[in-house]
Amino acid sequence: MSDSIASKVFDIEAVRADTPACANFIHFNNAGASLAPQPVVEAMIAHLALEARIGGYEAQALEDGKIENTYDSIARLIGCRRHEIAIIENATRAWDMAFYAMRFSAGDVILTSTAEYASNFIAYLQVTKKCGAEVRLVPDDGAGQLDVEALEGMMDGRVKLIALTHVPTNGGLVNPAAAVGHIARSHGIPFLLDACQSVGQLPVNVDDLGCDMLSATGRKYLRGPRGSGFLYVRESMIEQLEPPMLDLHAATWTDEGDFSIRTDARRFENWECNVAAKIGLGVAADYAQALDPAVTGPRIQCLAAHLRDCLSIVPGVTVHDRGAEMCGIVSFSLKDVAADRVKAALAARKINVSVSPAAWTLIDMTRRQIPSLVRASVHYYNTEYEITQFCASVQAITPTGA
Ligand SMILES: Cc1ncc(COP(=O)(O)O)c(C=O)c1O
Repeated sequence: MSDSIASKVFDIEAVRADTPACANFIHFNNAGASLAPQPVVEAMIAHLALEARIGGYEAQALEDGKIENTYDSIARLIGCRRHEIAIIENATRAWDMAFYAMRFSAGDVILTSTAEYASNFIAYLQVTKKCGAEVRLVPDDGAGQLDVEALEGMMDGRVKLIALTHVPTNGGLVNPAAAVGHIARSHGIPFLLDACQSVGQLPVNVDDLGCDMLSATGRKYLRGPRGSGFLYVRESMIEQLEPPMLDLHAATWTDEGDFSIRTDARRFENWECNVAAKIGLGVAADYAQALDPAVTGPRIQCLAAHLRDCLSIVPGVTVHDRGAEMCGIVSFSLKDVAADRVKAALAARKINVSVSPAAWTLIDMTRRQIPSLVRASVHYYNTEYEITQFCASVQAITPTGA
């Protein structure tokens, strides 16, 4: 297998051996859900087996160390402290717990980008419609990323939150989160970062990025379980944010007329959870950390750049990615073939991709007049050989290439 992108410190054969399904098909749907490595799968299966053998509560008590380790693993991965982490069932709910904890009034402004994820934007609309606050879009610069100078120019006394999607769901763009964090800090404004597609893909350090809140999911580039995610909240912000919902894990019922809320980030969690997934999430964070995002991140970017180059010479293909910096998500369309037909034709050739419809990043897609995109997202366990196979398959399904 030719793979000249592999560096000395990255052992592609070992990583693929940990991902046995790689041998059976080409998985370019890592922005949907990655293939989990064996240690993650084994940790979850072991916990489910233990639950079946001794009981769910009993298994939880026995494996408390592994469960607690997940907080340490995530904290190491993103450069924070364990009490700043809440483990939540997905990125959307994690983001929601932070966003809906903020208090907005008439006249307040939320600044955000044009490539926001639909669930985030729906939340902006719900909240601003109710209270009379306003959501304002920071324009893109010439490269297609959030225009940092324009953001600086939009900062005024009404701005109460800057919220940004680091890597949008619909393409290779990497928004300049650290520059945004710098502006947020210099104005003392909270910064909420949706890092759902970037954690596990790029090096993510909350201090370098200057974010106060960050949400992420387990199943995408982190290679963790489905139904897992987390929220980071900077220590100085935790007690300022009252979660929109509380339960007996997030708060304590102290007497008939009162309760007190936890002082750590677990105030954003709820009591019942998928314990096997929680353990698996920690194993995934350890796995990502051991491979080192400073090594795997550039590899993913090189593979994606190679994929874009190869795709762009396939007749009928338009590659749509924008940004001064690009990541592992490659978005394209094929002339006269709808995106879902491309996906189905590739699936018939044992290649997984996904489709990103306009409604998931409505503003960006409407402005670019793109109804839907094929999203081919590579991970570090993919290879140049797979890219060659992939492009040959795309060529074969073009109306003239069959
Ligand atoms: C940028 C972005 N944010 C948030 C989400 C939502 O993540 P989850 O499905 O884990 O809630 C996604 C999912 O695709 C995403 O791409």
